[in-house]
Amino acid sequence: MSPRPEAPALPDRPLPPKPPARADRVGLWRYMRLFRQDILSAQPARLYRAWMAEFRTPFFRSYLVNQPDLVRLVLAERPHDFPKSRRVREGLAPLLGESVFVTNGAQWERQRRIIDPAFEGGRLRETFPAMVDAAEAALARLMARADGRAVEIEEEASFAAADVIFRTLFSVPIEDEIAGRVFHAFRAYQRRQPLVNLAAFLPLPRWLPRPHRRGVRASARSIRGLIARMVERRLAEIEAGTAPDDLATKIMTTADPVTGERFDVAEMVDQVAIFFLAGHETSASALAWGLHLLALYPDAQERVAAEAATLPARPGFSDLSKLAFTRDVFRETLRLYPPVPMMVREAARPERFRDRDVARGAQVVLSPWHLHRHARLWEAPDAFAPERWATENGRACARDAFIPFSSGPRVCTGAGFAMAEGVLLLALITRAVRLSPEPSRPPVPVAHLTVRARDGIWLRLARRARQIP
Ligand code: HEM
Repeated sequence: MSPRPEAPALPDRPLPPKPPARADRVGLWRYMRLFRQDILSAQPARLYRAWMAEFRTPFFRSYLVNQPDLVRLVLAERPHDFPKSRRVREGLAPLLGESVFVTNGAQWERQRRIIDPAFEGGRLRETFPAMVDAAEAALARLMARADGRAVEIEEEASFAAADVIFRTLFSVPIEDEIAGRVFHAFRAYQRRQPLVNLAAFLPLPRWLPRPHRRGVRASARSIRGLIARMVERRLAEIEAGTAPDDLATKIMTTADPVTGERFDVAEMVDQVAIFFLAGHETSASALAWGLHLLALYPDAQERVAAEAATLPARPGFSDLSKLAFTRDVFRETLRLYPPVPMMVREAARPERFRDRDVARGAQVVLSPWHLHRHARLWEAPDAFAPERWATENGRACARDAFIPFSSGPRVCTGAGFAMAEGVLLLALITRAVRLSPEPSRPPVPVAHLTVRARDGIWLRLARRARQIP
């Protein structure tokens, strides 16, 4: 699957931002310091070419796996032998409890049996109008700021994505007082939680100091308290027969087809917490980077605007099929800036990878960030080229080296939802506003929970003369 020189050349555009790599060899303490700042620049450049890398320290071994057949083995072929790492579970437990994101085995299987029906194809169509409402509200906020001054777009994208998840889950806009408080408490939680990734990636000994513990627990408690109130309110509405037909009602009323049981209130709070976190942080990251890429590449931006101009004022679900190029832009965004940059699993039994012994309990890291930019797999790996998805190399890599939503049985439940949301928002925003970069503030990608920009993403917005048909 090497890049084919005879294939038509991809357009020659300047490269979008990429974080610097660290020196090839650094000591453990320096590595840990770098890691706390950002997990991307803490890695050496060789990971963009390697099929596998071993990290040895006095405390642990971990293996970054970058070879398509090994990635497939871990995620899709033998997922039971590579459960979610206990370290990730520990790091996220204060907030996510026993949510589907962190559980394993029979408990996880039962949770997916109840959750999955809420995300089936048909449901997405029913959920779509709530997504459009959130997109229109986001657009109204952006239009109010489209006066040529620089706007920090990550915050706007977070607001929009949180609004989408609240409207689709609970039929309430984020402006709702409770929803607004959950949103702000989550932001505080993330800021105080710099070590989740570190704890997950590097199984640290317990005696190492972990700052902010108390603060993290307090903000997790406050978020869970707020979500618990929304869940309880909804339970009362279900009992009274007045509940709206949204994702929360669907999940709370679906019985496990095997046991006949439903989620109890505590489990439901865990699940809502993960839908909010997994569903809004990730989508917000992708939307912000997507808008930045469109600002950097006006040719692509004009193509998206032209496609979006063919939509009715208020698009329906089937209109998404008219947005083929916008979809390729969004996929390219997920390739270059995968919101979940790395995933961690644990070897449940001894393995042998590329002639190396991988001991039981070793951490296995899958890195969408590195796989998506792998120099031996992708043609022009660091270039923005939505056109690539129509090439032979792009199609082969889409199958073998593109995992923004993971793959196999633990694939993101919200993948279809997120694709609809991302394409819709990119199209509606670009139809109404012209985006351009703020040259004095180029964004530097960094990763904590998700891939973000170190000092935000600053764009200038101007209203487009030609508006909705
Ligand atoms: C662009 C947006 C999104 C991206 C890139 C994304 C990515 C991912 C990835 C990579 C995983 C697997 C993590 C791992 O295995 O360690 C995952 C899991 C998950 N995602 Fe998403 N996600 C997105 C949006 C959403 C949305 C909108 C929802 C819900 C509405 C959602 C719900 C979940 C859940 C519940 C899981 C756990 C699945 C399981 O372990 O069984 N995600 N997501």
